[in-house]
Amino acid sequence: MSHETTPLSPSNVGSDPLTNRRKFITRAAAVAGAAALPIELSAQVAGSDEIKVGLIGCGGRGSGAAAQTMTVDGCRLIAVADAFQDRLDGGLNNIKGGMEKAGRGDRVAVTDKKYVGLDAYKELIDNVDLVLVATPPGFRPIHFEYAVNAGKHVFMEKPVCVDAWGYNKIIKAAQAADEKGLKVVVGLQRHYQNVYREAFKKVHEEGMIGDIVSAQAWWNGSRPWIRERKPGQTEMEYQVMNWYHFAWLSGDHISEQHVHNIDVINWFVSGNNE
Ligand SMILES: NC(=O)c1ccc[n+]([C@@H]2O[C@H](COP(=O)([O-])OP(=O)(O)OC[C@H]3O[C@@H](n4cnc5c(N)ncnc54)[C@H](O)[C@@H]3O)[C@@H](O)[C@H]2O)c1
Repeated sequence: MSHETTPLSPSNVGSDPLTNRRKFITRAAAVAGAAALPIELSAQVAGSDEIKVGLIGCGGRGSGAAAQTMTVDGCRLIAVADAFQDRLDGGLNNIKGGMEKAGRGDRVAVTDKKYVGLDAYKELIDNVDLVLVATPPGFRPIHFEYAVNAGKHVFMEKPVCVDAWGYNKIIKAAQAADEKGLKVVVGLQRHYQNVYREAFKKVHEEGMIGDIVSAQAWWNGSRPWIRERKPGQTEMEYQVMNWYHFAWLSGDHISEQHVHNIDVINWFVSGNNE
């Protein structure tokens, strides 16, 4: 998996078209991960080099990640999937509206490829080059494993799993992705944020505070939303709608939210900038 952030430019992109395409896809996936961060892009992609993008999970983050990916020339959103029809419709409308406002309406080209249900991810993955995964994290290992088996590049949101079973699946699939030369980026966006990157340099390259002997991090937040139970809704539908409040789907607060800060602590204490 990668936190690669090298911008694409004629000087750092080689002449091999496959390499170019891989670098370009990494860039597109990294943009999706760098929520709302102003990253300059210069990808030279033409004609048949179009990257077919698919989004699984059309909620808040998924819509944002799709819109960010579409800022990269050559990317086109051609498929969306969600557990619920209304979430799919709402998310797709938001993405379309935002892209039209930005003068990039042609980058959203979703016609028939709209998939609904808990198995919707399969058909979506089969039909695209780059998969954006922004569902509740409990499903992540299954989606990631399927995408890697299908040979697809992936941007997936944090956290990547919620339990040991999922962790083992993710690690195995990540190894397979590396072996296949697939690009994988995770939405731990601190790694793309200039203030953190500068701080890392000051600590590790300039030795500003000497050796780190201990570290602490906090996450202060308010209670996440609760969606009221609807008549006729199954228990499964209710839990998936309210995934923040069910550990099998969210991993609970530490895994779901504090993962960002745990990531920063591991990054700074280890000194490993990869
Ligand atoms: N990196 C960040 O800063 C950041 C910010 C917000 C959210 N996130 C992460 O993004 C993920 C989604 O969060 P969100 O706030 O967008 O939640 P959300 O509830 O707004 O969106 C999740 C969407 O996934 C759909 N869904 C649920 N199960 C599904 C399944 N099995 N298959 C297909 N679709 C399914 C839901 O219907 C919903 O539309 C979480 O892992 C969260 O931690 C990351």
